[in-house]
Amino acid sequence: LASVEVDVAPIAVGQGIKVSWRGKPVFIRHLTEREIAEAQAVDVASLRDPATFDERTQEGHRQYLIQIGVCTHLGCIPMGVADGEPKGDYDGYFCPCHGSHYDSAGRIRKGPAPKNLVLPDYEFTSKTNVRIG
Ligand code: FES
Repeated sequence: LASVEVDVAPIAVGQGIKVSWRGKPVFIRHLTEREIAEAQAVDVASLRDPATFDERTQEGHRQYLIQIGVCTHLGCIPMGVADGEPKGDYDGYFCPCHGSHYDSAGRIRKGPAPKNLVLPDYEFTSKTNVRIG
């Protein structure tokens, strides 16, 4: 399927799910206010792959972080909130293959991965419905 529609309403604040899109996992996360504040407070210039929180989320839907769940090092699937709770040292994602830590906005912070988790094309078709792809 070229695109996939997801109802994000059932994802509670602080929770996340994985869906499949074009054979790849996509992580959809409903960020808490604290996680958003933490991600916004980061000094972007200090990042390996500089990106603001606003560049990682969409206007009007900032609480939903939607990313392709493939480590930018060698392609393993990082662990994150969909596995129970945020992982790694930055309330985000941890790739167990070689130890990459991504923050609560999916930005690489530590470990061998060169880039942030990739954002798929997506569009909110209503307040709680998103079309990925
Ligand atoms: Fe994720 Fe190497 S594949 S750290």
